Amino acid sequence: MAARKAGEVHKKYFNRNIRVKTKGTSINLVTAADTEAEKEIVSLIRSYFPKHNFLAEEETYKKIDSEYTWVIDPLDGTSNFSYGLPIFCVSIALLKNNEPIIGVVYDPMRDELFSAQKNCGAYLNREKIAVACASKLKEALLITGFYYNRGKDMVANLERIRIFLSKRIIGIRRLGAAALDLCYVACGRAAGFWEFTLSPWDFAAGMLIVREAGGMVTGRYGEDITLKKSFIAASNGKIHNAMLEVLK
Ligand code: IPD
Ligand code: CA
Ligand code: CA
Repeated sequence: MAARKAGEVHKKYFNRNIRVKTKGTSINLVTAADTEAEKEIVSLIRSYFPKHNFLAEEETYKKIDSEYTWVIDPLDGTSNFSYGLPIFCVSIALLKNNEPIIGVVYDPMRDELFSAQKNCGAYLNREKIAVACASKLKEALLITGFYYNRGKDMVANLERIRIFLSKRIIGIRRLGAAALDLCYVACGRAAGFWEFTLSPWDFAAGMLIVREAGGMVTGRYGEDITLKKSFIAASNGKIHNAMLEVLK
């Protein structure tokens, strides 16, 4: 419900009335749709769960003593959105003691709702989804992303792209919305995804959706992910080690 409401906000502003501002650096954009969608999501969830915590991209919320935290990216893919490129989504996860137990990612342009509950599988709308069957890098279509800070991680990532391409993989895409990138791994539209730096609201929901669809999500060296700014490697599981060999 909250994700669909945010999707309505996206649609209201998409290709119309987009007021773009920058935050932090000149390439990190924020629009009225980001802030309004976040307000809608938080107030709706709060009306049901007034005693839960919120960690969201646009605002800081007062911490409450609760084991539950909602992790929210009200608009993932803001650069696409502000250019009129229809690849963006909203991402909402519920954590219990720092572990995602529910994840929802909604793409309003395609009316695609990806969702997962811990130990209950992953779904695209009402259909159960599963990761791709590629078993070698040669069969893999991969996705990557670039963090706003174009420092040494960018150089390192360009080198990883070169290595992957030299291994004759099917291809590499940069779609521009990390939460959707993860969902595309979950439903087999790509075999793997990596990005050097993501924030918890980018990956908390997508990580659960990939795992529940039978895939793997780890750090760069195969370690567990903590809900902090992190390197994220996601795959169908079968090519995970081969991906990490290139990424480490
Ligand atoms: C960004 C997108 C992008 C990724 C960036 C993220 P935002 O999120 O997910 O694909 O490469 O690292 O910050 O700023 O559009 O919510
Ligand atoms: Ca994001
Ligand atoms: Ca965002």
